[in-house]
Amino acid sequence: MLNKTVKLANGYEIPSVGFGTWQTPDGATAVAAVKEALSDGYTHLDCAAVYGNEKSIGKALKESGYDRSRLFITSKLWNTERGYDKTIAAFEKTLADLQLDYLDLYLIHWTANAKQFPNWREINADTWRAFEYLYEQGRIKAIGVSNFKTHHLEALIADSKIKPMVDQIEFHPGFMQTETVTFCRENGIAVEAWSPLGTGKMLQNETLKAIAEKYGVSVAQLCIRWCLQNDMIPLPKSVTPNRIQQNIDVFGFEIGAEDMTVINAMEYCGGSGLDPDEIDF
Ligand code: A2P
Repeated sequence: MLNKTVKLANGYEIPSVGFGTWQTPDGATAVAAVKEALSDGYTHLDCAAVYGNEKSIGKALKESGYDRSRLFITSKLWNTERGYDKTIAAFEKTLADLQLDYLDLYLIHWTANAKQFPNWREINADTWRAFEYLYEQGRIKAIGVSNFKTHHLEALIADSKIKPMVDQIEFHPGFMQTETVTFCRENGIAVEAWSPLGTGKMLQNETLKAIAEKYGVSVAQLCIRWCLQNDMIPLPKSVTPNRIQQNIDVFGFEIGAEDMTVINAMEYCGGSGLDPDEIDF
């Protein structure tokens, strides 16, 4: 049996499947998608300032009359807002847009990298000091990073007081980022999977189609369940009601060890190509 929540390093619980909102168009579509997700039983929403839809998500949360204490809401600091003071201001803007008075999880969206910044390490540390401050003030229940590879995590851990509790990385069949995941496991960092369906690219994969058929599930459900069985926290995105429903209905079957091995051994495929050391945005 898989748990429906995972304990972070500080004991705070995170629901093991989150609802992704990257590429969800702002306005009525975002409002409807979030309302659908909440009514289907998602309690974990993965948001970010740069997705440009936090106001709509805030509207959906408000109109749904949700019990805030039962929800887990994540947001992320965009790359233009790094540094102590800008981080605090960006956090307040996100909170206002989402119409919330605290966040469950706040992430640095991308590491500053050496390609763009000779002082990348200092930039991350300075940004992280604001995260630590907001965490200590109780404004955020857990703090973490996104798109950090091992050397970025090592530097941040060496330069700060509080270890990140989460790293959110791209993860799907054909792209498992094993080195980063292993480092996170050894350091008590929970790992979230963005694009668990390879932004939809995995859905046409013949190996996955054959395995999904065996279990009587969709390829999307197979990918999400496979993430969970690899101790990842998947964040599938959809704006389509029956897909939103399907993507959280992943607790009624189990992928056998042999099939897990086959999927884990898949050759590289479906990656976004976004390497944190190479990005220039
Ligand atoms: P849509 O949002 O139009 O429903 P990822 O989570 O890896 O980023 O993948 C998101 C993409 O996969 C979106 O294009 C989404 O389409 C599509 N998608 C999400 N869930 C399903 C599903 N259960 N079946 C088919 N396509 C899906």
